[in-house]
Amino acid sequence: MSKHQEKPLIAAALGHRPSRYPAWFMRQAGRYLPEYRAVRAKVDFTTLCQSPDLAAEVTLQPLRRFDLDAAIIFSDILIPCVAMGQSLTFDKGEGPVLSRPVRSGADLKALKRPVAAKDLGYVGEAIAKTKASLQASQTMIGFAGAPFTVASYMIEGAGSKTFTEVKKLLFTDATTLTGLLELIGDVTIDYLQMQVASGADILMLFDTWAGQLTGPDYRQFVFPVTKRVLSTVRQTTGVPVIYFPGQGVDKMHELKDLEVDVISVDWRTRLSVAQGVLKNVGLNVSLQGNLDPQTLIAPEALLRSKVRSLLEEVRTIAPRGHIFNVGHGLLPHTPPESLTTVLDELRRFQF
Ligand code: CP3
Repeated sequence: MSKHQEKPLIAAALGHRPSRYPAWFMRQAGRYLPEYRAVRAKVDFTTLCQSPDLAAEVTLQPLRRFDLDAAIIFSDILIPCVAMGQSLTFDKGEGPVLSRPVRSGADLKALKRPVAAKDLGYVGEAIAKTKASLQASQTMIGFAGAPFTVASYMIEGAGSKTFTEVKKLLFTDATTLTGLLELIGDVTIDYLQMQVASGADILMLFDTWAGQLTGPDYRQFVFPVTKRVLSTVRQTTGVPVIYFPGQGVDKMHELKDLEVDVISVDWRTRLSVAQGVLKNVGLNVSLQGNLDPQTLIAPEALLRSKVRSLLEEVRTIAPRGHIFNVGHGLLPHTPPESLTTVLDELRRFQF
């Protein structure tokens, strides 16, 4: 068997025919699993991410329960910010908080420029440990946050609904914003290359907040550095890359000339619409997604019919390749049995 046929997810990412329908779930490791909560009861989140044995253990937890085609390394998009000198905490119910938000040229200058192999080596170790437990058909996914999404947290110092500090910087000190995006870009390239050297088979770049900018601002400030990260890691490592532009099909209009293998589609956008827009700008890519993660709280019969509808839509639009997934991360109240139901329906579906 060739390398591609061995791993269905990689085959689909490259537009080859997979030996079976590849499936995984964004945030498949996490608080909806009691075995994850048991680990978290003993250790805080950042320490968990920085402990290779524990990180590998929670990465593998969902693969023990469910028939999945991939493991995504357990970490967070904000972990590199710790290596850049900010401290990361999670306030109960409030999401991530980063110390010393970056709001001026002086703040930018004060950031450290980490070396991934040294300062983020624990992520590489966790990948190597996880990979040793995977079957040949299973794919090891490495990831990072995209520069704009990571910059948003670094500037706001926390999650935001309005992104006021980000926009203030964009309107009054674009040099600092661009400098920060380029620095994150450099750090991210090194970090993703290290993940591949440690065993990652494919890389995903999460741009959850891409939808917060207008199309022209996205194209001017965010697209160049995002393209640089994806092109560089793709060319230097040879592994396929997935880009997730969160919250908005309109950002897909701005992706002309992006070098990418898979676009992960937010649940708010129909796959057929995404495919049309991407074709319009000349991107011939595979698609990933995009069940609404809240569908997993629906009664079983309805959940099964929603999975079937999604698969029927895929059959109609016939993308180059398709990776089954949710269209954003699983939520903490997700019943674990729902993942079994979704995967069962997927495996029954006749193409
Ligand atoms: O299983 C996996 O998908 C791998 C692990 C993973 C986490 N975060 C673990 C996590 C991944 C891929 C991420 C990505 C991430 N983190 C994104 C991009 C994808 C998305 O969801 O939009 C973003 C924006 C973040 C930032 C972040 N981290 C937020 C907003 C939060 C708080 C919200 C929440 O769910 O609590 C986190 C914390 C976080 N990251 C948790 C987990 C399992 C929960 C922390 C805990 O255990 O208390």
